[in-house]
Amino acid sequence: MRIVKVLAAAMLLASASEAAAQEGDVEAGAAYAKQVCAACHAVLPNEQISPLLQAPTFQSVADTRGMTELALTVWLQSSHPTMPNIVLKPDDLRNVVAYIRSLKRKK
Ligand code: HEC
Repeated sequence: MRIVKVLAAAMLLASASEAAAQEGDVEAGAAYAKQVCAACHAVLPNEQISPLLQAPTFQSVADTRGMTELALTVWLQSSHPTMPNIVLKPDDLRNVVAYIRSLKRKK
């Protein structure tokens, strides 16, 4: 059983880094986020409060230290416990990750 879990994790990482290897389209990601993620998350730059209070704003996600493209990609491919099963297609995933990363404020 253990080996299965390890394999599954390795495959997840492999596909995550593959997805992260290509540049996402920030505009398409913004459109996707407004359509799909905005039900729960504040998706616009500098928005302070999400429609669903437990959902972090995308601004705060972007500003979280260590929230790299890879970390975001892995997160979005693994379970998002309080999210209904949103399955992102590879393109959408890349785009939305690129969009979130674009929100990051310069320090
Ligand atoms: C049904 C509500 C809902 C929808 C729709 C939703 N989320 Fe979430 N999301 C949450 C909640 C609640 C949390 C925080 C609790 C948790 O960890 O699961 C969260 C957490 C996250 C996090 C983790 C932030 C962190 O700091 O760890 C990311 C990234 C994220 N969501 C991205 C997305 C993206 C991208 C979409 C659109 C494809 C999306 N979410 C759609 C409810 C939602």
